[in-house]
Amino acid sequence: MSTKIYIDPSRPRHRVSRYLYGQFAEHLGRCIYGGIWVGEDSSIPNTEGMRNDTIEALAALKLPVLRWPGGCFADNYHWIDGVGPRDKRPLRHNLHWVQPETNRFGTHEFMRFCELIGTEPYICLNVGSGTVEEARSWVEYCCAAQDTSLTRLRKENGRDEPWSVKFWGIGNENWGCGGDMRPEYYADLYRNYASYVRRTALSDAKLIACGSHPGIPEWDDVFWQRLADRQLLVDYIALHNYPNMGWGATSTGFPADHYGRLVVEGVQSIDDLIRRAKQSMFAYASKDHPVGLIMDEWGTWFADATVENGLYQQNTMQDALFAAAVFHVFHEHADVLFMANMAQTVNVLQSLILTKGPDLVLTPTYHVWEMFMPHRDADLVASVVIDAPTVRGATGERPAISVSATCSTDDMLFVSLVNLHPDSAVDIALELGRSAEWRVTSAKRLCGGALHAHNTFETPDTVCPEEISGAAGGAPTLTLPAGSIATLQFEAVRGA
Ligand code: AHR
Repeated sequence: MSTKIYIDPSRPRHRVSRYLYGQFAEHLGRCIYGGIWVGEDSSIPNTEGMRNDTIEALAALKLPVLRWPGGCFADNYHWIDGVGPRDKRPLRHNLHWVQPETNRFGTHEFMRFCELIGTEPYICLNVGSGTVEEARSWVEYCCAAQDTSLTRLRKENGRDEPWSVKFWGIGNENWGCGGDMRPEYYADLYRNYASYVRRTALSDAKLIACGSHPGIPEWDDVFWQRLADRQLLVDYIALHNYPNMGWGATSTGFPADHYGRLVVEGVQSIDDLIRRAKQSMFAYASKDHPVGLIMDEWGTWFADATVENGLYQQNTMQDALFAAAVFHVFHEHADVLFMANMAQTVNVLQSLILTKGPDLVLTPTYHVWEMFMPHRDADLVASVVIDAPTVRGATGERPAISVSATCSTDDMLFVSLVNLHPDSAVDIALELGRSAEWRVTSAKRLCGGALHAHNTFETPDTVCPEEISGAAGGAPTLTLPAGSIATLQFEAVRGA
């Protein structure tokens, strides 16, 4: 099988926000406790209680943003429980994820973790079981510079300078675990919360509303209608989508038709959700205040991820291919899609990292993050795939070859390619615009050899990026093995 791809670096479309490569870490299973926090007395090497191997792996990805503390947990969390001397913090019950909450990891620990891995914090406030004043006071505790009782408390707890927290979520899934609200009620409550949070937060803070998932299309319409006269209170509306949740397959035991369904209907459902939310936003949003979309929870959710095991699942080449194809969709929508946060960073759902006691393994999905780094904050440029073979889903099909090309400067072109075909390699002939002559400076491939291929603690390098030999400097033709991902970095040779 073969296909042609044309890329024109002289035709920029829009910027790919680096925040599309965000992450989400919740107090759920072993994401925070075990995956990030082990405590200062642990035999696992740590920095102020946070495991060094996790810090090192995440710092290498230069994650732009980390959402915390939930998720469903956010609307059951009272921030005051998580500040002050750790041994005095109360023991609570984590309602949604049915586990004890020791509060050892709270605001100071989260902010320190963000510093250690070099990321920006995104905090989700409690609307479902909290109060407006509780939410507002958390913002004051974190960000206020004035001398108040709350900022004195922050200082007593070890932090003199205010933190810079720009992103504040006003509740999570308030149509479900965050209070089972109707959209009318949430919209009115949102106005109330946002009114106080806006006045307390930093001047460049961004307020994020709970938005829809594919099953509740009316939610966004009602929300925007009810905010029509107060649009200054909203900066982004946040969507959630776990396309394969409830399909019954397990993360390593999935049948062939699950794969087709995931990369055809699953990827399409992410695309459709963004398109619908975009229409709704543009139908109601005023032109006076810019608003945008966020997808602050997305990823695979297999049958082996249960509440009992803390939503733990393995991560295979299938997950990596899904993530890569979704990133290409995100790039296409980056004119309105500002941020996305995959669920979740460690040991929960489609993780970047899995840990077991002192051991840590990087997942195939981690490697997609690593390989796609040059796309961040670069300009998407025009590309088209000609005569691609197709991959079949449950009811339809989509082109098996997916491409995304970005330029970070006039002289740097970065191309990612995905062959979603489960069985066939595809020969690719790349033709680049003639504004310059382009030279390949780096070529990499992720190809586990099978859709089920994954990394284990015993065999951590089964799925790892490898250099594509012979590509550097050469003509841009290459063969993409079945179920593989490739990236090519080009440099312009001016005046050639
Ligand atoms: O990511 C796991 C859970 O999925 C989150 O807590 C919730 O927001 C969503 O339903």
